[in-house]
This record gives sequence, structure tokens and C-alpha cells, in this order.
Amino acid sequence: RIVYLNGDYLPEEEAKVSVFDRGFLMADGVYEVTSVLDGKLLEFEGHLKRLERSLSELDMDKPEGFDDLLEIHRELVKRNDVEQGGVYLQITRGAADRDFVYPKDAKPTLVLFTQSKPLLDTPAAANGISVIFADDIRWGRRDIKTVQLLYPSMCKMMAKAAGADDAWLVEDGFVTEGSSNNAYIVKGNKIITRGLSNDILHGITRASLLKYASEAQMEIEERNFTPDEARDADEAFISSASTFVMPVVKVDGSVIGDGTPGAVSKRLREIYVDESR
Ligand code: PDD
Repeated sequence: RIVYLNGDYLPEEEAKVSVFDRGFLMADGVYEVTSVLDGKLLEFEGHLKRLERSLSELDMDKPEGFDDLLEIHRELVKRNDVEQGGVYLQITRGAADRDFVYPKDAKPTLVLFTQSKPLLDTPAAANGISVIFADDIRWGRRDIKTVQLLYPSMCKMMAKAAGADDAWLVEDGFVTEGSSNNAYIVKGNKIITRGLSNDILHGITRASLLKYASEAQMEIEERNFTPDEARDADEAFISSASTFVMPVVKVDGSVIGDGTPGAVSKRLREIYVDESR
């Protein structure tokens, strides 16, 4: 696989980053995942905008090559022959002697690599996934897409240990979002999802999905919902760049609907894939 590192396209085993990189030492970095369908990038502009916002919220400089990101994405997709999958992009503050204070003259590190994997016709998309609940003990700036992903990793492991696929996070009695996706329930045809704040990541998929849903005259309620409402929902689903719209058929052991992907979730997945590809 060819990866991109600070201006160079390299075989992955030749791409090396300093042990003093603050991404490695302090999780001082941000990332984006852009999906690829039919060899084409989905929602590139949205991901780029959010990336700029993440950098600015952390006072992190743009790396060299930032203005060429679209071209770099396309070049990597081409070189690695990605038909379906994604491009992972990461910017860290760069290498500097270890210190909590941001270094003055560190050069940000820019890394991109691709992953080829089926996104459209997967067993999870056909059959739905199951989620458990976990306490949302992440930091208070979940709107910034940082590489601090240890707790989400722990959540996936807790889900796996419980025989489930993922975890929905709960704070102060309400669901915030999934460990790596936004969370939705459907009640009487109404699509319910938490409103935007620093408590959740502002999903690029979420924004487009809500736009398409409202254009299709579907009813949307942006509000907090409780774990009990989720267990009792008619349907449930998640959204993210890599899952699009993914039906949830079991929440904390409670079967949702008849235990198969619901009509609204299936329709939304179709609409999303049609509109964004
Ligand atoms: N995850 N919430 C969290 C906590 C996320 O990590 C993600 C994305 C989302 C959905 O955002 P978007 O629709 O822009 O992908 C919501 C990515 C895919 C990941 O970590 O792999």
C-alpha cells in the first residue's frame, strides 16, 4: 500500500514518524475519514470544513500540502486502486521535545492512507447491528475530531464482550451518540436524534442525511432521547462516513421492531447512498 507522509507518496513500510511526534506522545492530533464508493470520494468538502474547524479549535497550524488535500486523496485512491473503502487523514502538531505547552516551531505531520473494504453490501447493512449502553466518560469537546480514541476502543471491546456490535453512550440520562457514529431512533415515523453541541461530533453524514430526509418530507426531531426511549423505539440506526445509515435491531438486549432493519432506516440508507454517490 502507498501512503502519503508530509509531501511524499511512499510504500507504507518506508513511512516513518518521529517518536517525539505529539500525536504519538499526547494524542495531540485530529483526523477525518472520507469514504470511497465507485472509486470516488464522498462528502470531501464537508470533511475538509470540519478538519479546518478542528485545527482552529486546537490552535494547530495547517500542514504543508493542506491546499492540495483533494488531489492527494484522489491520487492515493488511484495508486491503491480503491473501489470501495475510505481515506484516513491525520494531522498532528508535529515533533517537539516533550512538554505540555504547545511548541512554537513544530511542523505539523500530515499522514493519509487508504483502506479497501466493502461498504455497501455487508451483512451488517442487510441484517442490522446490536448496541449496548456505556457511560459517556469522554472529554467535553467531542465536537473536535481528535485522535483520542481509547475510550471508543474500550466501548467496542465492551460491546464485543457482551455479544453486541457497538455501544451507544449515555450521559446525564440521555444518549449522546455511538462510540464512532451518530445515534437515531424512529418513533411513529419521526426521526429523533440529539441536537448539535460540544457533546457530540457533528457528523458529516448526519448533516446530509437530515437534509435529504427533510427534502423527502420525513419528520425530524432534534432532541435528547433516553435509553428507555431507545429500547422502546420502532426503529433505530446509526450514521457515519463508513457505515452510511446502518440499522440497529437490538438495543441493550431489547429487540427493536421485529428484529430486522426497519422501513425508515432502509429508505434513509437508500436515499443517502443515491444522493451522495
Ligand atoms: N467516526 N460520532 C463519532 C464519535 C465519530 O467518531 C464519528 C465518525 C461520527 C460520524 O461522523 P461522520 O458522519 O462525519 O463520519 C459521529 C469515523 C467514521 C471513525 O472514527 O472511523
